[in-house]
Amino acid sequence: MATPKPDHEGLAFSSELVPDWALRGPKSSAQTAWDFCTAPFRMAILPDLVSERCHMTSLRAERFAAVLPHLRGRVLDIGAGDNMLVRLYRKYAEQIGATSSDATDSVGADIMDWGSDCRIIEDAANLPFKDDSFDTVSFIACINHIIKRGDALKEAKRVVRPGGRVLITMIGPLIGKVGHAIWWYSEDKHREVDKDELMGMSPGEIRELLKAAGFELELEKRFVYGLNWLYVARA
Ligand SMILES: C[S@@+](CC[C@H](N)C(=O)[O-])C[C@H]1O[C@@H](n2cnc3c(N)ncnc32)[C@H](O)[C@@H]1O
Repeated sequence: MATPKPDHEGLAFSSELVPDWALRGPKSSAQTAWDFCTAPFRMAILPDLVSERCHMTSLRAERFAAVLPHLRGRVLDIGAGDNMLVRLYRKYAEQIGATSSDATDSVGADIMDWGSDCRIIEDAANLPFKDDSFDTVSFIACINHIIKRGDALKEAKRVVRPGGRVLITMIGPLIGKVGHAIWWYSEDKHREVDKDELMGMSPGEIRELLKAAGFELELEKRFVYGLNWLYVARA
C-alpha cells in the first residue's frame, strides 16, 4: 500500500462532513449569487473545507450533490479518498430512498490510506469483492488517476449486479490540466503521481471506456457551470 504524505487533512480531504446546506438543491438565489461572485476562490484558490466555512459551495459539495440522488442499494465507491460519498450516503440514506442496511454495507475503496475507514485495495483493476455483489459502483473524480482504467471498469462490471449502475464524474482534459496546476491543496500534491495518470478526460474517452466494459450509457449531465460531467451507465 502506498502511504500519503502527511497533512492532507483539511486540504485534500477532511474528516468533517460536507455541510447539509451545501448539498441541498436547488440553491437559493442568494447562494447562487454568492457562489458565482466567489467562483475563483471556491474553484481554484481555497481548499473545499475553507470554502464551506465561508458559505461557498465547495467543488466537493457540487460533486456529491450531483451523485447522491443516483446511488442505489449497496454501493462500492472506488478511489474513495476520505470516504466522503459513503459517509454522506449513510447519513442521507432515508432521504435518498435507500435502506440503512444497504448504506451500512456500502464500501469505499482506495489504494491509499487517507486515514478514513476505506477498504485498502491493491488496485481498482483487481477488486477483492464477489461477482454481482453491489447495486452501484462509483468512480468520483478518480478514473483519470487509475492507470488501468479500462480494466477497472471491467472489474466494476463484474462486481455490479446485472441491471446495476456505474457512476462516473470527470472534468475535461483542459480544465483538468489548468486545475491541477493551480490546486495547491489537491490530493495529488500529497502522493507520488504516476506518469500515466491523466488530469481530466473527455466525454468521448469516458463513453468509449464504458462501452468497452459492457455498460450502456443512460445519462450524461454537466454541472458546475458545465465544467464537470456526471455519467450514469447501466450494467
Ligand atoms: C481526486 S481523488 C477523489 C477522491 C474522492 N472520490 C472524491 O471525490 O473526493 C482520487 C482518488 O483516487 C485514488 N486512486 C488513485 N489511483 C487509484 C487506483 N488505481 N485504484 C483505486 N483508487 C485510486 C487516490 O488515492 C485518490 O483518493
